[in-house]
Amino acid sequence: MIIERLNQEHRNIEKLLAILEREFEIFDLGDRPDYEVIRAVIHYFEVYPEVYHHPQEDLVFAKLKIRDPAAAARVGDLAREHQNGAERLRRVAHAVDAILADREILRQNVDILVREFIEHERRHIMMEDRDFFPAALKALDADDWTEIAAASTVHKDPLFSDVVEDGFDALRAHIFRLEQEAEADRR
Ligand SMILES: [Fe+2]
Repeated sequence: MIIERLNQEHRNIEKLLAILEREFEIFDLGDRPDYEVIRAVIHYFEVYPEVYHHPQEDLVFAKLKIRDPAAAARVGDLAREHQNGAERLRRVAHAVDAILADREILRQNVDILVREFIEHERRHIMMEDRDFFPAALKALDADDWTEIAAASTVHKDPLFSDVVEDGFDALRAHIFRLEQEAEADRR
């Protein structure tokens, strides 16, 4: 089911945000965080929401606008929030690139950018879980969901979409493993 999948992905995103937060706590202490972990998390956020998560949410949101315009208005400008998130992520990615290239960059500024990104994402997910998904579940009918499912398979090829999904599962598992190793090394 589409909302269940989106919900599950929110839980995955929260785990990745916690990892990012943890790595930047180490950065804040003046130590060297695990940049492989940080870059993998950034990469995940650069790709997954764009190709998979947001397009599906956009389809659900377009239907909600038709079925219950008032509820959609309460959710607000979803596309804009997604763009804001992407913009904040780009700033984080640039800051990390600058650190790794040994360019002059204030720790404090990096910290602010990362915090802003994490907070924005958490707030956004909370809003979607609280306002958007319940409203969609209430307002959309079975035909709507069938239509969304048909439209949301990438290249209209369900196999391709499963392959994409598996690729992201593998990437997440890889990040969790890297993070465990980094934590073990720090002990
Ligand atoms: Fe979302």
